[in-house]
Amino acid sequence: MKCNITNKNVEEIMSFGKMPIANGFLNEKDKSSEYFYEMTVGLSPDLGLFQLTNFPKVEMMFHDKYPFFTNSSSYMRNHFKKYAEWISKEFIENNSDKIIEIGCNDGTMLENFKNNKIESLGIDPSGNVAKIAKDKGLNIINSFFSENLTYSLNQFKSKTKVICAANVICHIPDLNDLIKGIDKLLSKKGVFIFEEPYLGSMINNVSYDQIYDEHIYIFSAISVEKVFSLYGFELIDIYPQITHGGSMRYVLARKNEYSKSPKVNKILGEELKKGFLDIDLYMRFKLNCLRSKERLNDLIDLSLKKNQRIGGYAATSKSTTILNFCSINSNKIDCIYDTTPEKIGKLSPGSHIPVIDSEEFKINPPDTCLLFGWNHKNEILEKEKNFASNGGKWISHIENFI
Ligand code: TYD
Repeated sequence: MKCNITNKNVEEIMSFGKMPIANGFLNEKDKSSEYFYEMTVGLSPDLGLFQLTNFPKVEMMFHDKYPFFTNSSSYMRNHFKKYAEWISKEFIENNSDKIIEIGCNDGTMLENFKNNKIESLGIDPSGNVAKIAKDKGLNIINSFFSENLTYSLNQFKSKTKVICAANVICHIPDLNDLIKGIDKLLSKKGVFIFEEPYLGSMINNVSYDQIYDEHIYIFSAISVEKVFSLYGFELIDIYPQITHGGSMRYVLARKNEYSKSPKVNKILGEELKKGFLDIDLYMRFKLNCLRSKERLNDLIDLSLKKNQRIGGYAATSKSTTILNFCSINSNKIDCIYDTTPEKIGKLSPGSHIPVIDSEEFKINPPDTCLLFGWNHKNEILEKEKNFASNGGKWISHIENFI
């Protein structure tokens, strides 16, 4: 598939090679029929939009067996509670205000509005997670968000004060359709708020594992400002976040409805100065990714030479990019420890490393452990503090991270 908004002019940056579906944890019997695509990234120079130039059909990623649950991190649960409190304080004025969350997953964010007495709606295409949200008593539609869907949402049309999303907008290939849908639903003073892993953090950390099939775009302030301004919206505020190894929260509104925070121009200016519109920056990123691959393989080979057993911690979507890009499989890593019942007992996509219950980590830890859930470092290292104190060694694909 190609991106709708930018397919006219995208400069290719690099290929990460053949990739499976990032969340496509599989059974032994399905190994031979596993789907792969060539994962390439590029830059739309006119919009400064960093994007996949080729990716699987969305239905292959979001379905009734989607194995990601927002609820799986206690830190993130707390983050969404604070996100919801902030939205209520800043933007909800009275009981007639309405809120919609695009990509509500298991309802972790939206349930915080239950006591608010405002009308809310969650929309999610993955049936299993949408059901969990419904079972919490939330108003949920199990569907992809689209302009078309808004025709069945009469009570929200032009009346919605807040549309929010977290780690979701980058999943939606057709930004034209997304923004037209948002435009239909928001009231005159309505705001669209979303947060996403931030391009600047990915480049700084060389955290190329943010790139996988579900992350069609890695946004920056410049790209958000440019894309939304095509549809009469403007970026009115911006809030850096520490979640997912460095994210950004963007607040958008119809042009000239709100005054713009000085932070917006400050961050836009910084991005311009750092070369976010310049392909050279991304070519340097490419070299850093290739160096990072070499370094990680060296680290692993060093442990193997010492006859050490290596494990992985957290079977994240991101781990699929690391393992497949670096050609690391079950000959090198014994198993990946994870808490998600839907992943335990399966094999990691492409690399076919067994995923086992993270309880095993306490009972029979490896000598060296590659932290795939590096964005949850504090939570995981605290939970597993005995590992390091008993001589275990954490490693990461991000240099100087641990
Ligand atoms: P996340 O970084 O949100 O994943 P993704 O890259 O898919 O967005 O991490 C979620 C995964 O990490 C999920 O498979 C559960 C696992 N996990 C653990 O196994 N233990 C933990 O303590 C935490 C925080 C996550």
